[in-house]
Amino acid sequence: MRVAITGCGGIAAAHAQCVEMAGDEIIAVADVNEDAARQFAGKHGGVAFKDVEDLLAQARPDAAIVCTPPNSHSAIVTALLEAGVPVLCEKPLAHTVADASDLVDAARRTGVPAYVAYCHRFNPAARLMRDYAREGKLGTLFTFRNAFVGSAPQLTTAWRTDPEISGGGCLMDNGSHSLDILQFITGPVSEVWSKLHFAAEGRGDVAADLLTVGEGGVAGLISVSYVSARPQAVFEVIGSEMALQYDYESSGSTVTAFRPGAEPALIEMQAGCDVRFIEQYRAFSEAMKGRPTALATFDEALSVSRVIDRCQQQAGTPGGVC
Ligand SMILES: NC(=O)c1ccc[n+]([C@@H]2O[C@H](COP(=O)([O-])OP(=O)(O)OC[C@H]3O[C@@H](n4cnc5c(N)ncnc54)[C@H](O)[C@@H]3O)[C@@H](O)[C@H]2O)c1
Repeated sequence: MRVAITGCGGIAAAHAQCVEMAGDEIIAVADVNEDAARQFAGKHGGVAFKDVEDLLAQARPDAAIVCTPPNSHSAIVTALLEAGVPVLCEKPLAHTVADASDLVDAARRTGVPAYVAYCHRFNPAARLMRDYAREGKLGTLFTFRNAFVGSAPQLTTAWRTDPEISGGGCLMDNGSHSLDILQFITGPVSEVWSKLHFAAEGRGDVAADLLTVGEGGVAGLISVSYVSARPQAVFEVIGSEMALQYDYESSGSTVTAFRPGAEPALIEMQAGCDVRFIEQYRAFSEAMKGRPTALATFDEALSVSRVIDRCQQQAGTPGGVC
């Protein structure tokens, strides 16, 4: 596959590695920071452009990976889809529900394959939990719990907490991943109660706590934070018969199963959480061949955006002290 990448910052490098590992070719890259584009092309290949319009005028990629900040996704992804180029867009789909909704319409209108890079669903643990939940092995599903918390003070002043660019803060950034895994494993969220925590006026949240209820009555408890002293990256799904837990720090290639009255047991997987970008790219190339895919659709990503929007409305504003 001949791939284009727009946005040549942090996450683009992870995607470029996956393209290279698959034996595919990066033929074009674009970044408003032309130096960044040139350096990235020097390292990973392809011709460097300053924006997607220039890129599309001169290159014809088989697919594109969009790695720019959320407020630019709508224009870039729409241009790609209208040019007939299939897209894997970084999360969240957009910085507002309106833009996310427009992108769902653009994908439908053009009929061009379009997915969102919610990579944590490609952690084999998330897939195992989804399978167990669907097969009824957990009994009645009660609760999904997740914490993506840590100390990242640099993000409290970066674009990630600039509502104009990111559409919010830590909830939009970490929490969009949390909500995607929650819905991937247990199904759609229908209600949400939330508390967003702000550190400065006009900035997005730096932490958020959510209680959700899904269509089957499954509860979701999510905590995300940039300002937590103790880092934690863990998710678990709890049912009447069994609970499954995955901890990014310590689980490696196992999921821990807890059954009432029994010792915890380890379920071995074929790989650990670090394969998620590789598996995601593999899924993207398979989808390009028309094969079924577990990639997040634009509709699924819109539903994540809607839950976040409801939380922000409960807080009063995507940026501000509440
Ligand atoms: N899946 C994950 O685990 C994960 C991790 C990090 C970031 N992300 C997502 O990836 C995206 C990018 O994040 P990042 O950390 O790489 O950001 P970054 O700031 O490191 O890089 C973004 C790059 O995009 C460029 N850019 C900005 N607007 C542009 C435009 N209109 N056209 C072309 N280039 C433009 C910037 O100059 C910069 O080089 C975001 O949507 C973010 O949420 C996902």
